[in-house]
Amino acid sequence: MELRFSTWREVDAYLENSRAIIIPIGSTEQHGPNGLIGTDALCPETLAIGVGAQTGALIAPTVSVGMAQHHLAFSGSITLRPSTLIAVIQDMVNSLIRHGFKAFYFLNGHGGNIATLNAAFSEIYAQWSMDPAAMDPAGVRCKVANWWEANGVLALSRKLFGDQEGSHATCSEVSLTQYAYPDSVKSAEMDPPQAPTGPIYDAVDYRRRFPDGRIGSNPSLANPGAGEQLYRTAVAGLVADYQKFCG
Ligand code: NI
Repeated sequence: MELRFSTWREVDAYLENSRAIIIPIGSTEQHGPNGLIGTDALCPETLAIGVGAQTGALIAPTVSVGMAQHHLAFSGSITLRPSTLIAVIQDMVNSLIRHGFKAFYFLNGHGGNIATLNAAFSEIYAQWSMDPAAMDPAGVRCKVANWWEANGVLALSRKLFGDQEGSHATCSEVSLTQYAYPDSVKSAEMDPPQAPTGPIYDAVDYRRRFPDGRIGSNPSLANPGAGEQLYRTAVAGLVADYQKFCG
Protein backbone atom coordinates (compact mmCIF):
# COMPACT_ATOMS: atom_id res chain seq x y z
CA MET A 1 0.00 0.00 0.00
CA GLU A 2 1.61 3.25 -1.16
CA LEU A 3 0.81 6.47 0.66
CA ARG A 4 0.79 8.45 -2.58
CA PHE A 5 -2.01 6.25 -3.96
CA SER A 6 -4.06 6.14 -0.72
CA THR A 7 -6.79 8.32 0.78
CA TRP A 8 -6.71 9.67 4.33
CA ARG A 9 -9.52 7.30 5.25
CA GLU A 10 -7.45 4.35 4.04
CA VAL A 11 -4.57 5.56 6.22
CA ASP A 12 -6.96 5.75 9.19
CA ALA A 13 -7.99 2.15 8.52
CA TYR A 14 -4.33 1.06 8.19
CA LEU A 15 -3.54 2.59 11.59
CA GLU A 16 -6.16 0.34 13.20
CA ASN A 17 -3.85 -2.60 12.50
CA SER A 18 -0.31 -1.21 12.23
CA ARG A 19 1.75 1.70 13.50
CA ALA A 20 4.69 0.97 11.20
CA ILE A 21 5.68 2.55 7.90
CA ILE A 22 8.47 1.96 5.38
CA ILE A 23 10.25 5.09 4.14
CA PRO A 24 12.52 4.49 1.13
CA ILE A 25 15.52 6.84 1.18
CA GLY A 26 18.21 7.26 -1.44
CA SER A 27 20.29 9.82 -3.23
CA THR A 28 20.53 11.68 -6.54
CA GLU A 29 24.15 11.26 -7.62
CA GLN A 30 26.34 10.05 -10.46
CA HIS A 31 26.72 6.30 -10.70
CA GLY A 32 29.56 5.96 -13.18
CA PRO A 33 29.36 5.63 -16.98
CA ASN A 34 26.32 3.31 -17.20
CA GLY A 35 24.57 3.76 -13.83
CA LEU A 36 21.50 5.99 -13.48
CA ILE A 37 21.74 9.11 -11.33
CA GLY A 38 18.60 7.94 -9.54
CA THR A 39 20.04 4.48 -8.72
CA ASP A 40 20.18 4.90 -4.95
CA ALA A 41 16.55 6.06 -4.75
CA LEU A 42 15.17 3.69 -7.41
CA CYS A 43 16.59 0.57 -5.71
CA PRO A 44 15.02 1.01 -2.25
CA GLU A 45 11.76 2.29 -3.76
CA THR A 46 11.44 -0.77 -6.01
CA LEU A 47 12.25 -3.10 -3.11
CA ALA A 48 9.91 -1.28 -0.69
CA ILE A 49 7.00 -1.74 -3.08
CA GLY A 50 7.89 -5.45 -3.24
CA VAL A 51 8.02 -5.70 0.56
CA GLY A 52 4.72 -3.80 0.78
CA ALA A 53 3.04 -6.24 -1.61
CA GLN A 54 4.00 -9.19 0.63
CA THR A 55 3.41 -7.64 4.05
CA GLY A 56 0.71 -5.01 3.52
CA ALA A 57 3.14 -2.37 4.86
CA LEU A 58 2.42 1.25 4.04
CA ILE A 59 5.15 2.81 1.86
CA ALA A 60 5.91 6.53 2.31
CA PRO A 61 7.07 8.76 -0.55
CA THR A 62 10.74 8.17 -1.35
CA VAL A 63 13.29 10.62 0.00
CA SER A 64 15.17 10.87 -3.29
CA VAL A 65 17.84 13.44 -2.41
CA GLY A 66 20.31 12.50 0.32
CA MET A 67 23.79 13.27 1.61
CA ALA A 68 25.99 13.18 -1.51
CA GLN A 69 28.39 16.12 -1.23
CA HIS A 70 31.30 13.95 -2.41
CA HIS A 71 29.58 13.42 -5.80
CA LEU A 72 29.09 17.11 -6.59
CA ALA A 73 32.00 17.30 -9.05
CA PHE A 74 29.89 15.19 -11.46
CA SER A 75 27.06 16.80 -13.45
CA GLY A 76 23.58 16.12 -12.17
CA SER A 77 24.43 15.19 -8.59
CA ILE A 78 22.34 16.94 -5.92
CA THR A 79 22.98 16.91 -2.18
CA LEU A 80 21.42 17.97 1.07
CA ARG A 81 23.91 18.98 3.72
CA PRO A 82 23.73 16.65 6.75
CA SER A 83 21.91 19.25 8.90
CA THR A 84 19.27 19.69 6.17
CA LEU A 85 18.73 15.94 5.82
CA ILE A 86 18.39 15.62 9.61
CA ALA A 87 15.69 18.32 9.51
CA VAL A 88 13.88 16.57 6.64
CA ILE A 89 13.86 13.24 8.52
CA GLN A 90 12.71 14.88 11.75
CA ASP A 91 9.86 16.72 10.01
CA MET A 92 8.67 13.62 8.13
CA VAL A 93 8.77 11.43 11.26
CA ASN A 94 7.08 14.04 13.45
CA SER A 95 4.31 14.53 10.86
CA LEU A 96 3.67 10.79 10.87
CA ILE A 97 3.87 10.54 14.69
CA ARG A 98 1.03 13.04 14.85
CA HIS A 99 -1.19 10.54 13.01
CA GLY A 100 -0.24 7.66 15.29
CA PHE A 101 2.73 6.06 13.54
CA LYS A 102 5.46 4.82 15.90
CA ALA A 103 7.79 2.50 13.96
CA PHE A 104 9.81 3.97 11.10
CA TYR A 105 11.68 1.57 8.82
CA PHE A 106 14.01 3.55 6.56
CA LEU A 107 14.86 1.35 3.60
CA ASN A 108 18.13 2.89 2.48
CA GLY A 109 19.92 2.81 -0.89
CA HIS A 110 22.94 4.99 -0.15
CA GLY A 111 25.85 4.38 2.24
CA GLY A 112 26.44 8.13 2.52
CA ASN A 113 23.09 8.52 4.29
CA ILE A 114 23.80 6.14 7.18
CA ALA A 115 25.63 8.47 9.58
CA THR A 116 23.13 11.28 9.01
CA LEU A 117 20.13 8.96 9.44
CA ASN A 118 21.50 7.72 12.76
CA ALA A 119 22.11 11.32 13.87
CA ALA A 120 18.51 12.16 12.91
CA PHE A 121 17.24 9.20 14.96
CA SER A 122 19.22 10.44 17.97
CA GLU A 123 17.63 13.89 17.60
CA ILE A 124 14.16 12.34 17.38
CA TYR A 125 14.71 10.12 20.43
CA ALA A 126 16.14 13.05 22.40
CA GLN A 127 13.13 15.18 21.54
CA TRP A 128 10.68 12.51 22.73
CA SER A 129 12.76 11.44 25.73
CA MET A 130 13.19 14.98 27.04
CA ASP A 131 9.54 16.03 26.81
CA PRO A 132 7.67 14.27 29.65
CA ALA A 133 4.32 15.32 28.17
CA ALA A 134 5.16 13.54 24.96
CA MET A 135 6.30 10.28 26.53
CA ASP A 136 4.44 7.23 25.37
CA PRO A 137 4.93 3.75 26.83
CA ALA A 138 4.92 2.27 23.33
CA GLY A 139 7.83 4.51 22.33
CA VAL A 140 9.06 5.67 18.95
CA ARG A 141 11.37 3.38 16.98
CA CYS A 142 13.48 4.16 13.93
CA LYS A 143 15.67 1.78 11.95
CA VAL A 144 17.91 2.09 8.91
CA ALA A 145 17.93 -1.04 6.74
CA ASN A 146 20.50 -0.99 3.92
CA TRP A 147 19.08 -3.08 1.08
CA TRP A 148 22.50 -4.46 0.07
CA GLU A 149 22.86 -5.91 3.58
CA ALA A 150 19.51 -7.76 3.53
CA ASN A 151 19.90 -11.44 4.32
CA GLY A 152 21.47 -13.27 1.37
CA VAL A 153 22.25 -10.24 -0.80
CA LEU A 154 25.98 -9.92 -0.05
CA ALA A 155 26.50 -13.62 -0.71
CA LEU A 156 24.55 -13.42 -3.97
CA SER A 157 26.50 -10.32 -5.12
CA ARG A 158 29.76 -12.14 -4.39
CA LYS A 159 28.59 -15.20 -6.31
CA LEU A 160 27.46 -13.13 -9.30
CA PHE A 161 30.27 -10.60 -9.53
CA GLY A 162 33.13 -11.63 -7.22
CA ASP A 163 35.69 -8.87 -6.64
CA GLN A 164 34.28 -6.85 -9.58
CA GLU A 165 31.28 -5.81 -7.44
CA GLY A 166 33.03 -2.69 -6.02
CA SER A 167 31.61 -0.19 -3.54
CA HIS A 168 30.11 2.56 -5.70
CA ALA A 169 28.21 2.16 -8.95
CA THR A 170 28.28 -1.51 -8.02
CA CYS A 171 27.37 -4.30 -10.40
CA SER A 172 24.47 -5.22 -8.09
CA GLU A 173 22.80 -1.82 -7.86
CA VAL A 174 23.15 -1.22 -11.60
CA SER A 175 21.69 -4.69 -12.25
CA LEU A 176 18.73 -4.01 -9.96
CA THR A 177 17.84 -0.79 -11.82
CA GLN A 178 18.23 -2.61 -15.16
CA TYR A 179 15.71 -5.20 -13.97
CA ALA A 180 13.29 -2.59 -12.59
CA TYR A 181 13.61 -0.11 -15.48
CA PRO A 182 14.52 -2.07 -18.64
CA ASP A 183 13.80 0.93 -20.87
CA SER A 184 16.59 2.91 -19.16
CA VAL A 185 19.46 0.43 -19.57
CA LYS A 186 22.66 2.20 -20.70
CA SER A 187 25.87 0.81 -22.09
CA ALA A 188 29.29 2.48 -21.90
CA GLU A 189 32.98 1.69 -22.20
CA MET A 190 34.72 1.04 -18.88
CA ASP A 191 38.33 2.22 -18.85
CA PRO A 192 39.89 0.62 -16.90
CA PRO A 193 37.41 -2.28 -16.70
CA GLN A 194 37.62 -2.31 -12.89
CA ALA A 195 37.68 1.09 -11.16
CA PRO A 196 40.27 2.00 -8.50
CA THR A 197 39.51 1.93 -4.77
CA GLY A 198 40.45 4.41 -2.06
CA PRO A 199 39.14 6.78 0.58
CA ILE A 200 36.35 9.36 0.15
CA TYR A 201 36.90 13.00 1.13
CA ASP A 202 35.43 16.04 -0.64
CA ALA A 203 34.00 16.39 -4.14
CA VAL A 204 37.15 17.60 -5.92
CA ASP A 205 39.31 14.91 -4.36
CA TYR A 206 36.71 12.26 -5.24
CA ARG A 207 36.76 13.22 -8.93
CA ARG A 208 40.56 13.15 -8.97
CA ARG A 209 40.72 9.66 -7.43
CA PHE A 210 37.75 8.18 -9.30
CA PRO A 211 37.64 9.99 -12.69
CA ASP A 212 34.56 8.24 -14.12
CA GLY A 213 32.74 8.07 -10.78
CA ARG A 214 33.00 4.36 -9.98
CA ILE A 215 34.79 2.92 -6.95
CA GLY A 216 36.18 -0.60 -7.30
CA SER A 217 33.44 -1.83 -9.64
CA ASN A 218 33.09 -3.15 -13.17
CA PRO A 219 29.42 -2.48 -13.87
CA SER A 220 29.73 -3.58 -17.51
CA LEU A 221 28.96 -6.97 -15.88
CA ALA A 222 25.55 -5.70 -14.71
CA ASN A 223 22.53 -7.37 -16.32
CA PRO A 224 18.77 -7.50 -15.75
CA GLY A 225 18.80 -11.24 -14.98
CA ALA A 226 21.18 -10.67 -12.07
CA GLY A 227 18.95 -7.77 -11.06
CA GLU A 228 15.95 -10.08 -10.86
CA GLN A 229 17.82 -12.55 -8.64
CA LEU A 230 18.96 -9.68 -6.40
CA TYR A 231 15.40 -8.30 -6.28
CA ARG A 232 13.90 -11.61 -5.14
CA THR A 233 16.63 -12.24 -2.55
CA ALA A 234 16.52 -8.70 -1.17
CA VAL A 235 12.71 -8.61 -0.90
CA ALA A 236 12.68 -11.95 0.96
CA GLY A 237 15.37 -10.77 3.38
CA LEU A 238 13.71 -7.38 3.91
CA VAL A 239 10.24 -8.92 4.50
CA ALA A 240 11.69 -11.01 7.35
CA ASP A 241 13.61 -8.05 8.76
CA TYR A 242 10.60 -5.71 8.58
CA GLN A 243 8.35 -8.24 10.31
CA LYS A 244 10.94 -8.69 13.06
CA PHE A 245 11.14 -4.89 13.46
CA CYS A 246 7.34 -4.67 13.79
CA GLY A 247 7.06 -7.64 16.17
NI1 NI B 1 24.65 3.71 -5.17
